[in-house]
Amino acid sequence: MEFNEVIKLRRSIRKFKAEPIPDEYVNEILKAGRLAPSVSNIQSTRYLVIKNPEVKEKLNEYTVPFVKSAPVVIVCCAYKKAWNEQEKRFLELKEIGAFKDFYEETKQQMEILEKEGKVERMANPEIFSYYLWQHAAIAIDHMMLKAVDLGLGSCWVGFVDREKVRELVNLDNDYDIIALLPIGYPSYNPAPRSRFSVDQLLLKEL
Ligand SMILES: Cc1cc2nc3c(=O)[nH]c(=O)nc-3n(C[C@H](O)[C@H](O)[C@H](O)COP(=O)(O)O)c2cc1C
Repeated sequence: MEFNEVIKLRRSIRKFKAEPIPDEYVNEILKAGRLAPSVSNIQSTRYLVIKNPEVKEKLNEYTVPFVKSAPVVIVCCAYKKAWNEQEKRFLELKEIGAFKDFYEETKQQMEILEKEGKVERMANPEIFSYYLWQHAAIAIDHMMLKAVDLGLGSCWVGFVDREKVRELVNLDNDYDIIALLPIGYPSYNPAPRSRFSVDQLLLKEL
């Protein structure tokens, strides 16, 4: 499907046909999430795929009811230990020339900024703590758009008891559960949602 069509057609889908999704579609969706950007390419987002109706039935106790009607539910997680390999991932990027034309200039500027004591504010540890959620958010958006491209629908579900779901799927504390992504063939065609105009969103041009 044409890109603009995909982003225009995407809606949160909250009712699904019972028809199962081919495994290769699920794989295509996961592959779209895999292409999402992340800090130093640490690729911290992880997934659990739930298809088993009994597991979905239990999941229903900890989230919104429409989730269980989706043939597939992806539990999107942040793998906190991905930070441990940040340097390795960064070097991989360097090796393939991702920063080739910018490396020296950036390095010089970093040295100046460091001398001037400005780095701390830019690489604020507080902001770092949000990055894993941001990585997952981008990946989830990629997956939702790929679902549309495949004729499927999905809905980002943040209303979930993360601790209970952690227990249900037996996930250890190295992972944070970010959201559920129920996916299936839409059984209705929702009207476009209202959105602010660009003028309302644009604060100023400088
Ligand atoms: C972070 C986030 C959390 C959300 N959580 C829920 C949720 O728990 N339940 C739900 O029905 N929709 C949820 N949504 C979907 C929003 O309600 C939806 O995106 C919004 O109403 C706009 O509609 P649209 O996605 O069809 O354009 C969530 C969306 C986002 C981005």
